[in-house]
Amino acid sequence: MKLQGKVAIVTGGARGNGLAIARCLAEEGADIAIADICENMSSLPYDLSTEATMNEAVESIKSMGVRAIGIKCDVRKAVDVENMVAKVVETFGKIDILVNNAGNSSMVAIAEMDEQTWDDVIDTQLKGTFLCCRHVLPHMIGQHSGNIVQISSVGGQRGFGMGGHYCAAKHGLIGLNKSIAMEVADHNIRSNVVCPGTVWTPMMQGIAASFGMEGDEAKEQFFAGHLIKDPEVSPEDIGHAVRWLVTDEARCITGNMITVDGGWTAKAP
Ligand SMILES: NC(=O)c1ccc[n+]([C@@H]2O[C@H](COP(=O)([O-])OP(=O)(O)OC[C@H]3O[C@@H](n4cnc5c(N)ncnc54)[C@H](O)[C@@H]3O)[C@@H](O)[C@H]2O)c1
Repeated sequence: MKLQGKVAIVTGGARGNGLAIARCLAEEGADIAIADICENMSSLPYDLSTEATMNEAVESIKSMGVRAIGIKCDVRKAVDVENMVAKVVETFGKIDILVNNAGNSSMVAIAEMDEQTWDDVIDTQLKGTFLCCRHVLPHMIGQHSGNIVQISSVGGQRGFGMGGHYCAAKHGLIGLNKSIAMEVADHNIRSNVVCPGTVWTPMMQGIAASFGMEGDEAKEQFFAGHLIKDPEVSPEDIGHAVRWLVTDEARCITGNMITVDGGWTAKAP
């Protein structure tokens, strides 16, 4: 068990990539705190998780033989993040791993985007990652160890029409990560990024449905351009990359990123 005795926070961990990441860390023995908003945002074309979804996720992780808690937390809000971090430390005594996975998206052209739509995406992914790092890092610095992973996207390396807010946030995470890595390396803390390609999670399904696309046809369009067609990238593939990065096998890797996209970014447009 490579993560026995470690404590991990996974934001947006109630479902999708976040839940798979949490379960992958638990498989190696880590205790898990899921932090999820469990509420909808009116600017998004699909529903976010509920408290029931988060409770189910927590139970599924506990059944793997580790300790797990779920904390309702909107990562856009400093007070929520501060309380969430305090609760994790109170429950488990420390924080070894932070996965900034909470994310959302809508598809709107910049010329038509209202401020709330921009803010909900930027604040969840960019400000949320800042706030979580801001409140977790003092604990990691104090114990002189830790591992952080930011979940960016292939949208952090390329532009998406109708996804200006998402791409701005995901590009921003890669820059933020490099700066964090520089600031904390001397404290024995590493910070890296995982960039998923298309993964058929509730977010992608919700976005596809908002365009009237469903089922295999929708999947085909969203997975077009992946060099590896079979298997498609799964939430577990993202979890495996995160898990490897936070083990000592990746001890010399920081300020860097792994792209899990079936080869999508390798292909010239
Ligand atoms: N699915 C993909 O194709 C894909 C591709 C690249 C990157 N990603 C990234 O993976 C991460 C997870 O996405 P997913 O596809 O699993 O989506 P998802 O919607 O299935 O899961 C996201 C989770 O984050 C939570 N969340 C949203 N806003 C939050 C907030 N402000 N505070 C706390 N929790 C919040 C939601 O309730 C939900 O449980 C995101 O950062 C996303 O951008 C996904």
